[in-house]
Amino acid sequence: MKEVKGFAYHKLPMRYVALCKEGKWSKGKLTCRASVRINESAGVLQYAQTCFEGLKAYRTKDGHIVCFRPQLNEQRLASSCERMMIPTLPEGMFLEAVRKTVLANQKYIPAADSGGSLYLRPYVFGMNAVIGVKPATEYQFRLFATPVGSYFHGGISPLRIRISDYDRAAPHGTGHIKAGLNYAMSLYAISDAHAKGYDENLYLDAATRTYIEETGGANILFVTKDGTLVSPKSDTILPSITRRSLLYVAEHILGIPVEERKIALAEIGDFAECGLCGTAAVISPVGTIDDHGKEYHFNMQNFEDTVIAKLYHTLLDIQHGEIQAPDGWLMMIK
Ligand code: PLP
Ligand code: COI
Repeated sequence: MKEVKGFAYHKLPMRYVALCKEGKWSKGKLTCRASVRINESAGVLQYAQTCFEGLKAYRTKDGHIVCFRPQLNEQRLASSCERMMIPTLPEGMFLEAVRKTVLANQKYIPAADSGGSLYLRPYVFGMNAVIGVKPATEYQFRLFATPVGSYFHGGISPLRIRISDYDRAAPHGTGHIKAGLNYAMSLYAISDAHAKGYDENLYLDAATRTYIEETGGANILFVTKDGTLVSPKSDTILPSITRRSLLYVAEHILGIPVEERKIALAEIGDFAECGLCGTAAVISPVGTIDDHGKEYHFNMQNFEDTVIAKLYHTLLDIQHGEIQAPDGWLMMIK
């Protein structure tokens, strides 16, 4: 596949499926069926008992197909499942689903130099009827693939985001896992943000509303005026694999100082650069954060001159096999 624009679902020929009954997973297999048949009172429909992951497969310039750190998605799905009372997958199933689905749909992986990739969406959900509030006893794991371009419309033109009046995650809640419910409750806020001309919502910590957390679909990064990469530390944000990788790349490959710490809303005016990071977002520069009419501007127009751009290019080069990846970061699929 040559080029794909935007981030959308395209139905590809094959996906992976496995079933679980009373805690025992069946052997998984590929299927051409994109539809799911479940009971009207399925746990996922009534009480949102579901969690998911997002990762990408890439073509490298020398003709291989690779996946970026899928073991971390596997681990994060396991912690999401535990918190959602969903039986964890048997050892090896997640990576088998990744390999088989990518190989079965390989002709839809965008070309190496197109900026696109094959987005993989693994997910698990409660299937059987529950009406009292309790976990289901039957589950389905599926993994489908869709070719994608950039998540935000403008590609790498700077985003305009706003401080949200809604909260994303309660202290001791589910902000640190990838549960569907975290996204369901963000739909009102994101629709309102889009209607008002913003690309995303930036959430504050729900307890004090004084610290920066993350956006609806990505973690946030800042760069200080003297070039230190700073990212929020919080128990209520998703532990982004992209952020963890970027902090490593900054410190160990690019020699950029890094800090993971609480970031107060009151200090964002002091930062020189800002960006969002995630599998879908990659690294998207943020030009403006609007806090109820008070605007903070970051000089991201000349993207190529920024520290964030250095991180962006290095990460992409690692993902596409153009510079040596740290040990174990790329899983070779073909
Ligand atoms: N935060 C949220 C809320 C997300 O949905 C995502 C996307 O997965 C991320 C952060 C980024 O995480 P990752 O880099 O692991 O994709
Ligand atoms: C991802 O980056 O994989 C996500 O799940 C974010 C989602 C909002 C598309």
